[in-house]
Amino acid sequence: MTRILLLKSSPRGSASYSSMLADELVARLRELHPDAQVHVRDLAADPLPHVTAEFASGTLTPEEQRSPEQRQALELSDRVLGELQQADIVVLAAAMINFAIPATLKNWIDHVMRVWVAFTYNEQGPLGLLNGKKLYVVAARGSSYADPVQGEWDFQLPYIEKIFQFMGIVDQQHIVVQPTLAGEDIAKAEIEKARAQIAAIGSM
Ligand SMILES: Cc1cc2nc3c(=O)[nH]c(=O)nc-3n(C[C@H](O)[C@H](O)[C@H](O)COP(=O)(O)O)c2cc1C
Repeated sequence: MTRILLLKSSPRGSASYSSMLADELVARLRELHPDAQVHVRDLAADPLPHVTAEFASGTLTPEEQRSPEQRQALELSDRVLGELQQADIVVLAAAMINFAIPATLKNWIDHVMRVWVAFTYNEQGPLGLLNGKKLYVVAARGSSYADPVQGEWDFQLPYIEKIFQFMGIVDQQHIVVQPTLAGEDIAKAEIEKARAQIAAIGSM
């Protein structure tokens, strides 16, 4: 069985292009993997709390030595991290908010980026531990960051790419929808381009 984790993060609800296209991408993956089990976590509709002092100290304390408060603070993190660990494929829908990712997605990253579980260190440096997964990112942005000057302001996709690589998730495909706020016709054409990329998944 193929396990798919679908993460949504746009604050724009049903108007979100990234969430809409991520749903379509999951539908495509279901065609390719009829046995797929899909778990959806909508980080905007059901936001995670910010991490706390007990969380921070708990992550650096070996499990058997954690206080009851530290254990409690890590419960939710264990759950969302478990969802990521179990997934064979992760589909991430991300809006660009103030040149970066939505705060709700950053909160999720804070919960899953756990030393000794998501990554560790060896003599060579950091080592990701969540290997063997495929990541699809659908990134929507109001402006275009395709040219190098505008591209310097893109702290969304480069960050997503790096943070998942840091966890060992190096097999990534990015589908970018931009600019979504330059008029309806342009947005429609960009959506069709993204749809063509989604339709091509699994056909190579
Ligand atoms: C609060 C807020 C901040 C935004 N900041 C930016 C930004 O910095 N750069 C940009 O290109 N678009 C920005 N946008 C536009 C969104 O990136 C755009 O609407 C995109 O389509 C959002 O993804 P979605 O369609 O999946 O919701 C912002 C939108 C909102 C609501």
